[in-house]
Amino acid sequence: MRVEIDKNAYEKLKKRFPWVYKNEILNAPKCNPGDIVDLVYKDEYVATAFFNPLSKISARVISFERVDINKNFFEERIKKAIEKRKALEKITNSYRLIHSEADFLPGLIVDKYGEYLVTSFNTAGIDNFKGLIVEILIDLLNPKGIYEKGDKIREKEGLEVISQKLYGEIEDEFIIIENDKKFLTNLITGQKTGFFLDQRKNRKIVGEYGNKKTLDLFANAGGFGIYANASYTKFVEISASACSLIEKNCELNNLKNYEIVRADVFKFLEKEKDTYDLIIIDPPAFAKNKNAKKNALKGWKYLIVNSLKLLEKGGYLALFSCSHSINQKDLLDLALSSSIIDNSYLEVIEFLKQDVDHPYMINIPNSLYLTGVLLRKN
Ligand SMILES: C[S@@+](CC[C@H](N)C(=O)[O-])C[C@H]1O[C@@H](n2cnc3c(N)ncnc32)[C@H](O)[C@@H]1O
Repeated sequence: MRVEIDKNAYEKLKKRFPWVYKNEILNAPKCNPGDIVDLVYKDEYVATAFFNPLSKISARVISFERVDINKNFFEERIKKAIEKRKALEKITNSYRLIHSEADFLPGLIVDKYGEYLVTSFNTAGIDNFKGLIVEILIDLLNPKGIYEKGDKIREKEGLEVISQKLYGEIEDEFIIIENDKKFLTNLITGQKTGFFLDQRKNRKIVGEYGNKKTLDLFANAGGFGIYANASYTKFVEISASACSLIEKNCELNNLKNYEIVRADVFKFLEKEKDTYDLIIIDPPAFAKNKNAKKNALKGWKYLIVNSLKLLEKGGYLALFSCSHSINQKDLLDLALSSSIIDNSYLEVIEFLKQDVDHPYMINIPNSLYLTGVLLRKN
């Protein structure tokens, strides 16, 4: 099947951007969600793609060269993704094995937790190959169990949001071993596909600056605070289940002097008086798109200004944005304007990004979705 695209889409595809939006489609035959099509511009073949007339992102490129989309095709791509991550086995038993477009498999997420795999099939195209992909994963990795975690994003593709066991046995509680740390996570009931694997490297880098007093804001399972291993740590987190994980993770890692505050960080900062020498701000994505950006910037400014008030001179502030719409430059701008209010000077210690198992492909700018900066207050 041929789908004709406009000049704008053609030019982006020539730079290997892998999405075509609905308004860039000139002509398409009657297709079912997830059908495989040739994208064509003025009779020139441009790419092979999953097509979904229901989705705003109507075509997602699977290949820029003509290929047969069969078992062999998926097997090769999955093997490459596994191979690329081999080095991580030295430091952890848990990492992302397949990261959607950034591993040339649009919509497929596979996280490896020891002998378990937690998957998401987020496009109609990849969902059509679920059975085959499960078969390949079993052949290549011989897992104990494979679980599918339904992501709400499936609704955009006209798919039902379902979570189910796909193979073998799955236990909900699993202990991640990462460097010399341990984290209990819930594979079935946890957020995302379990744990924030993408922050692995950043936890280690930022953790090295832990000293006397750490404040871990939006702490989730407590990763940053636990790595920082300070004399005293305060974790602030709104979710009750995450708070109970923090407690268990502090125990697992022998962290003794800590407090877990179950609260909205914004309200917590209104009242907090203690001071710290390391503060981490790692909120959820406030701005999922450009329109929400203005409000997100306002929220961010509040967080930084109020955290700086609690940060001692010589202390460190780590900022993370997990939304492509608030990027590193935005974080720096926010930090600068906040430091002027605080009458302090901030120095960049590290520029940070998502860990390597969540690849940032330079042909897909939005695959850089997690950016951060570690600053020192002077
Ligand atoms: C991006 S995650 C943090 C990941 C964590 N730092 C790690 O490395 O594992 C954001 C966390 O913020 C929590 N959260 C969301 N809104 C919040 C709020 N207003 N106050 C406190 N916590 C909040 C979520 O429950 C989630 O656990």
